[in-house]
Amino acid sequence: MSYDDSARLLWPRQETMRTSIFSRKIFVALLLASAAARAQESLSSAALDIDLQKTAGKVSPTLYGLMTEEINYSYDGGIYAELVRNRTFHQGWDEPAHWYLMQYGNSRASMHLDNSTGPSANRQLSLKLTVEQADSTNQAGVENEGYWGVPVRANTTYKGSFYAKADDASVGPLTMSIVADDTGKAVASATSPALSTSWKQYNLTLTTGDIEPSAANHIVLTVAHSGAVWLDMVSLFPPTYKNRENGNRIDLMEKLAAMRPAFLRLPGGNYLEGEHIAERFDWKKTIGPLVDRPTHPSPWRYRSSDGMGLLEFLGWCEDLNMRPLLAVYAGYSLEQEHVNPGPDLEPYVQDALEEIEYVTGDSGTKWGAVRAQNGHPAPFPLDYVEIGNEDEFDKSGSYDGRYAQFHDAIKKKYPRLQLIATTPVKSRQPDVIDDHYYKRADEMFAFTHHYDKADRNGPKIFVGEWATREGTPTPNFGAALGDASWMTAMERNSDLIVMASYAPLFVNVNPGGMQWDSDLIGYDALSSYGSPSYYAQVMFSNHIGDEIVDASLQGGGPRLFYSVTRSAASGVVYLKVVNASSAPQPLAIKFTGADKLKSEGKLISLSAKSTAETNTLWQPTRLVPVESSIRGIEASFNHTFAPYSINIVEVAAK
Ligand code: AHR
Repeated sequence: MSYDDSARLLWPRQETMRTSIFSRKIFVALLLASAAARAQESLSSAALDIDLQKTAGKVSPTLYGLMTEEINYSYDGGIYAELVRNRTFHQGWDEPAHWYLMQYGNSRASMHLDNSTGPSANRQLSLKLTVEQADSTNQAGVENEGYWGVPVRANTTYKGSFYAKADDASVGPLTMSIVADDTGKAVASATSPALSTSWKQYNLTLTTGDIEPSAANHIVLTVAHSGAVWLDMVSLFPPTYKNRENGNRIDLMEKLAAMRPAFLRLPGGNYLEGEHIAERFDWKKTIGPLVDRPTHPSPWRYRSSDGMGLLEFLGWCEDLNMRPLLAVYAGYSLEQEHVNPGPDLEPYVQDALEEIEYVTGDSGTKWGAVRAQNGHPAPFPLDYVEIGNEDEFDKSGSYDGRYAQFHDAIKKKYPRLQLIATTPVKSRQPDVIDDHYYKRADEMFAFTHHYDKADRNGPKIFVGEWATREGTPTPNFGAALGDASWMTAMERNSDLIVMASYAPLFVNVNPGGMQWDSDLIGYDALSSYGSPSYYAQVMFSNHIGDEIVDASLQGGGPRLFYSVTRSAASGVVYLKVVNASSAPQPLAIKFTGADKLKSEGKLISLSAKSTAETNTLWQPTRLVPVESSIRGIEASFNHTFAPYSINIVEVAAK
């Protein structure tokens, strides 16, 4: 019951008992009870003492980064901008999934998968379209439904392409169109030259006119003559971020850019390991021409096109100015399959060394030359290599031995590289240990002191996967509060925690798109939105500086969290205060050791009315950070932080 409710209940009693002393006593008692209720609702004031003369350590410059993998349609149907779903016909049994036969007017045709021919030695699979009857006004062909639709925007150019061959030159050209679901009319279309009788790639340009943006479209490929046509690698790309060929979706890249991530942990997660050894992320099968990539099953129950291959990950890093954090397959897959340390493991160790050479070697090296041939002569920077993923789940206990073998080989050839173990090992001292935490908000709150007293002389910590899991498909405000409390803890301990990355990063919110709920950024084919947790991360990573400032908190509610950091060069102090309570939190802030404090600072605040409040595709910016001025800053000043709020107070100090 709130104070207002209890007050409303009191007055009728007062009316009926007005005259007796007894009734007056009761009234006084009730008034006191009401005051007590009010006192319970307002949190006691807390005191935060900040000693600007004491630095508690350096903030890791790489603290905030990204972790991704093929889950929740993160790449295919997500950041990888390809619009054609199942472009290589690998999904589906008798019928290719997401493809349908199109017979306009009185045309007659059939389609089936043909595993006797394809455009590449690695790809002897294609779609055979047999057209018995067709003409220019009664065309026949196939339709692709895209990833829950095909997004189009006005006056935009799309790059279409496909590999094809015909049984006879009389089949003629093939037309590729983007067709609106509701009108059946093409919003953009282009026609190839007459198809050749041997496999060949065709490239087309499709341009929309003055149309409304929409995802309610499909892609159609048709011919106007009878005959047989084989198709493969059918592709349609919208404009991509920084116009990168085979690149990424612009809105999602812009959202990531706003997070100012320092690194990208790639390629996963469980996706690195695969269910079985043969289904691991086998990097050599993900490089080179798309037509040569065989594709592979991902552990998240759908097949990866491998359009997002190793070089594409590195290009993604380049575009957002992130360092790659390369996780190498270390001989363990999810169905408890492992490779014994020793000679059996040696090919995998060599494979990892070659992968590192592909990333970092100059074009005079064997694998650096392959990278140059793939279109990127310049080597990429690399500081960290992670050996496996979550190897504590390997019940055989082989990780210690497997880690040691990778460790010794990589350190021998690349002594500068920092190596990350996915769980503690005894045989070697890893440079870094990767800890993963998925928790509810109250568990996150209780966990915020986990690293406060941790050993500073052992390996550094990489929190390679973390999230407060409340809310679906994306986290709600309660989760954002859990996340923000955890980020204050990581910042206070960022002398030890060198890197951290939330997981999973993405979710396609369409039915069937999600395999794991509470994901940072949601989207459909056309639009995307950041969850409150996303905005909390944007706030934190954009206001961090490079030093941890000594501070201590006394009193306050049980769900009050803080961190204080600053930029050594500018003297700007970033005070983060998370009030995860439903009541306002008064705070007495005291700065010791500041010669000069600017009396006006900046307050950036993200707050909600309830923990269930959230952002959605339909209300993408319901909860976003709001910036205002905070006045009256001096050596000691008070500020009351709103209920359910995540705050940054930026103070200029000298
Ligand atoms: O982030 C989802 C999964 O959680 C990752 O693939 C795995 O590493 C962890 O168990």
